[in-house]
Amino acid sequence: MEKPIGIFDSGMGGLTVLAELRRTLPDEDFIYLGDTARVPYGSRSARTVERYSLEVADYLMQQGVKMLVIACNTATAHAYKSLRQKLPVPVVGVIEPGVAALLRATKNRRVGIIGTRSTIRSGSYEQALKAHDPELSVFSKACPLFVPLIEEGWMDKKITALVIEEYLSEMVREEIDSIVLGCTHYPLLRPAIQKIYPDLQLIDSSVEVARSVARELLERKLQHIEKRERGKLRILLTDVTDQLRQLEQLFLGMTVEHLEEVQIDPHA
Ligand code: DGL
Repeated sequence: MEKPIGIFDSGMGGLTVLAELRRTLPDEDFIYLGDTARVPYGSRSARTVERYSLEVADYLMQQGVKMLVIACNTATAHAYKSLRQKLPVPVVGVIEPGVAALLRATKNRRVGIIGTRSTIRSGSYEQALKAHDPELSVFSKACPLFVPLIEEGWMDKKITALVIEEYLSEMVREEIDSIVLGCTHYPLLRPAIQKIYPDLQLIDSSVEVARSVARELLERKLQHIEKRERGKLRILLTDVTDQLRQLEQLFLGMTVEHLEEVQIDPHA
């Protein structure tokens, strides 16, 4: 089907998921919407995150997308269920694919979840994990300082290593063997975390999300038929600032010629 796939995030971090999707599905067209005017979602209440997510999803539906990917963990935690109920197109979130990968990875059934405050407070990862395996020992930790450190580009700094230890040492002492990087930004910290905890298996949900999207497209016969080198990409943002150019490089690994600024009208 020759329509684009819609993907949204609270800001630019979801470009990590977009990058993975484009690697896995080079023929597809994508419209990415980053709600940069209202980022971060990670410190907000469940009802606000749900409202923002529904507004952003509505906007993408008006653009004629054939599927919706929620790249943001916080938005998945609070809006996945309502979006699945409300939208006439398939919806893929980041939590279920991450959970599936975590369950495959763990040997001792002691696992860790890290994410924003709002994601951790929702208990969504824990619920999804326990639904599959009630005996699993799950340790969760909100890591609110990771997002600003990553956006500052401080992945290799000493201060970041200290923050990683501060957040993770307790669950590592509990002998977890795997941890899900439950936030769009955290895959960028993978080398720094792995350096401190070389034995820990780090689960990056973006790889799993790309696999789920590919499967869903196939099952519902929604794939782009015409073969080509690279599908089209549009990046829409609710606020465009200079700093975003830097983040685009960081998260997507390339700059897009034109960032489109859009206004989301909640009463549309
Ligand atoms: N995109 C968010 C997430 O994956 C992180 C940034 C934010 O707090 O908005 O949870």
